[in-house]
Amino acid sequence: MKTLKYLGHSCFLLSDGRTSIIFDPFLTDNPNAAAAAADIDCQYVLPSHAHNDHLGDTVKIAKRTGATVVSTAEMSGLCGGQGCKTHAMHLGGKRAFDFGYVRLTLAFHGAGVPGGHACGFVVNFGGTTVYHAGDTSLFGDMALLGRLEKIDYALLPIGDNFTMGPADAVEAVAMLKPRFVVPMHYNTWPVIAQNPEDFKRDVEERLGIPVLVLKPGATQDLA
Ligand code: NI
Ligand code: MN
Repeated sequence: MKTLKYLGHSCFLLSDGRTSIIFDPFLTDNPNAAAAAADIDCQYVLPSHAHNDHLGDTVKIAKRTGATVVSTAEMSGLCGGQGCKTHAMHLGGKRAFDFGYVRLTLAFHGAGVPGGHACGFVVNFGGTTVYHAGDTSLFGDMALLGRLEKIDYALLPIGDNFTMGPADAVEAVAMLKPRFVVPMHYNTWPVIAQNPEDFKRDVEERLGIPVLVLKPGATQDLA
């Protein structure tokens, strides 16, 4: 059984009981963290950019577990320089791993590391396709991504202020055409306070695509 566990903010753990992948492991200092960095067991860490609410505990987790950090070349340089095992990729690149493949996608946002660019990830995990958008504004090429990949689960920021907000995220869903949507990057702090139930209603009424609102700590079985 493949599962997606929400650990708060933009942090998710994707697992099939053999391989585990953690996205944006911001746990220390995350007021909604549903796990401690010391308790994470995984083989891959996928940080979307170097802002602390995404890079977070990447180095700590990767060094303790021996997990490989997969991200942009600049992020790999940053983490490799601190002793992590890394695999550098860049925007538009796709690569096979033992669990499936990773495609690094555009994300319109600061990198938090000199010379870099924020990214998102499409992860094909044993045939289930998960798109973690990272921090991003709405952008029209999400339509292209929706054509290139048959996305099962789209993990999208809805917090506004730093990323797209709920109304723009509805437009993103319309372009990506995933089977399911999971909102993220909201309610961690007052500046990104949102009601995910309003977003859920808007997406489901307008597009008929189910939105899974996960509480930090909740585990979703992947269909
Ligand atoms: Ni950011
Ligand atoms: Mn962020």
